[in-house]
Amino acid sequence: MNISIDYTSCLSFITAGEIAQKAGTSVIHYEELINRTGAGNTFTGWLNLPEESVKKAEKINKVAGRLREQADITVVTGIGGSYLGSKSVIDSLDDFIQQDNKDRKHEVLFAGQNISEDYHYKLMTYLEGKVFNIIVISKSGTTTEPAIAFRLLKKQLEENMQGRRINKHIVAVTDSDKGALRKLADREDYESFIIPDDVGGRYSVLTPAGLLPIAVAGYDIEEMIRGAAEMAKETRDNNSPETNPALIYASVRNLLYDRGKFIELLVNYEPGLHYIGEWWKQLFGESEGKDGKGIFPASANLTTDLHSLGQYIQDGKRILFETVLSVSSINSELLIPHDEDNLDNFNYIAGKRLSEVNARAEEGTIMAHVSGGVPVIKIKIPRINERYLGQLLYFFEISCALSAYILGVNPFDQPGVEAYKKNMSGLLGKP
Ligand code: PA5
Repeated sequence: MNISIDYTSCLSFITAGEIAQKAGTSVIHYEELINRTGAGNTFTGWLNLPEESVKKAEKINKVAGRLREQADITVVTGIGGSYLGSKSVIDSLDDFIQQDNKDRKHEVLFAGQNISEDYHYKLMTYLEGKVFNIIVISKSGTTTEPAIAFRLLKKQLEENMQGRRINKHIVAVTDSDKGALRKLADREDYESFIIPDDVGGRYSVLTPAGLLPIAVAGYDIEEMIRGAAEMAKETRDNNSPETNPALIYASVRNLLYDRGKFIELLVNYEPGLHYIGEWWKQLFGESEGKDGKGIFPASANLTTDLHSLGQYIQDGKRILFETVLSVSSINSELLIPHDEDNLDNFNYIAGKRLSEVNARAEEGTIMAHVSGGVPVIKIKIPRINERYLGQLLYFFEISCALSAYILGVNPFDQPGVEAYKKNMSGLLGKP
């Protein structure tokens, strides 16, 4: 079974006929993408990453194995597309409470995804006296946030290693020949991996930028690539507007946008998926938000945020639609206990699994939101594991590119990101 899309909860807002028609007329955008004739076509290398990355997996696993053997901690330094892909997969799969009696996984920490002094001070304090690895990721090799973090980490590592060479503890993931990081990696003889020229940051999760940290964290990148390949078959290699789920998702969201639904709220009922939402926001936000157009991508963790954002979703300005990451099978099992006193009156659900209650919450929330004027798309995920995450990420990437073409924008540039950088450099007095 693969990831699938269910748009039945949109049908009181748009009709099945309209969806079929939109998907049909959007095949032209599918052709543009696959034949690489659309805007930004020099950045479509990610389409073939399931096939390309499988060839790189052995080297990635080998380096990951060495990093895991020589230290217990790896700090990944990167921002945006050089951070969110691996963070989202690791967080989805990780135990959020470290269990000491289990085969403890290698600790993967992140730096350079912000410029907070407190954050980095606490990180450096934690790393004091410890031997650790650094995976420094930057396609351009010139991004401020990871560059500053890398300076701090390198200094800390030099101190901790007390005069021994640190280069075997550093791996660079960057451009094949441009940028400061490439120069440094060559000069210092760091192990290095390439982010291909034709793959932009937010589409790079299946390059070493995403795969190396995931492998270091102890997860099966080959399974992830296998999942992505399965989804490539269903989407990239399928021009049918009836069965290509990416074409259908892209069409539905554009139809809703045309009806004034300007915000898409991606929600999960599994807190581990929080960073999938963060990754998805970057993917869609940077790909579609330009030329005065685009659906604003937002995310929420439910049921948690039903106690904060829930009121707005149900009753606020009717400019929202919702996309639910709906997980069918949960990996653990926990039953709600019977309580003799039953003061809270919850004995009626005693003996049920927590996941069953969560599923009913999801079902009830969808019904409430639809009746409150919020169309809901469901993305059904059989279970959270490497394979289905690979499917999910590839599904979103191809859906996003198609959706941007339908909207009439270039999915692969991000001119708006430069504005803050210019101002910041100016204010800091960059020569
Ligand atoms: O999607 C993008 O291209 C950006 O979000 C980049 O990933 C981000 O700005 C980091 O850039 P770099 O990898 O060059 O440091």
